[in-house]
Amino acid sequence: MNNKQQSEYWNGAAGQTWVGAQVHLDEILNPISQVALSQAAGMPGEQTLDVGCGCGTTSLALAAQGAQVLGVDISAPMLVHAKNRLRGVERVSYLHADASAAVFEPIYDLVFSRFGVMFFDNPVGAFSNLHGALKPGGRLVFVCWQSSAANPWIAVGAQAIESFFPANDPPDPRMPGPFAFADPEYLQDVLVRSGYQQIHLRPLLMDLTVGSDLDSAMKFQTEVGPVSRVMTDLKGGVRDRAVNAVRDALTPYITPLGVRMSSSTWIVTASKGDK
Ligand SMILES: C[S@@+](CC[C@H](N)C(=O)[O-])C[C@H]1O[C@@H](n2cnc3c(N)ncnc32)[C@H](O)[C@@H]1O
Repeated sequence: MNNKQQSEYWNGAAGQTWVGAQVHLDEILNPISQVALSQAAGMPGEQTLDVGCGCGTTSLALAAQGAQVLGVDISAPMLVHAKNRLRGVERVSYLHADASAAVFEPIYDLVFSRFGVMFFDNPVGAFSNLHGALKPGGRLVFVCWQSSAANPWIAVGAQAIESFFPANDPPDPRMPGPFAFADPEYLQDVLVRSGYQQIHLRPLLMDLTVGSDLDSAMKFQTEVGPVSRVMTDLKGGVRDRAVNAVRDALTPYITPLGVRMSSSTWIVTASKGDK
């Protein structure tokens, strides 16, 4: 998908779905968020840009660290939800814009993102634009997914439904989408070519609780992510069989703590240099 198609996607049904799934998604992602936010280490008075801020969870968390936050996102429905969640918080504002092309003042101490920077059709152009938003010495901190194969919490359901859909050629692993930065050498190269210095990619492997029980995990899987196409593209008995295949695939992951599945991300830090 190019940026225009991304915009249509995130402003369409997907944006509404993400709004509906916000609470559950934040619960799932919370352990990863805590690591990314502690890496961000926002300081009172800092100016922070939260890229692809979606429903605003990390914008609120960065403001709680003391920062002044501008959340930028292309999804109008997600930003409406983000604004509704402000409830008097004054240090956060939101901008409906394509972060790869928006003109930002070079005032930011921190450019942050939780899973919001893998969707650019020109990653070097986009990261260069964000580089221009940083003050000298400013820092970039974001978290992105490693490969689908390294993320069973997404891949297991996707594999379970594969046989219900026509086989496609394997997609370009670097195409815009959740796994665009799975390859660390490619990601490093994108950031070097965008002008960043002191680039570090740290692997973060964590078990995530995808649901408190199997029903809750199934509800989430069929709403968001690759399994959701079962609900949109299949009907009747075929759909039932596909849903059952996902249930069977998730069942081995039931634990006394809920449905627990592993995830792999990169915690990425870099700086603008020239402090
Ligand atoms: C996977 S969601 C993550 C949302 C949020 N950061 C979170 O962790 O819940 C990706 C977000 O990136 C946004 N996005 C995609 N392309 C964008 C662009 N070019 N500029 C700004 N936001 C973009 C989407 O609208 C969506 O909100």
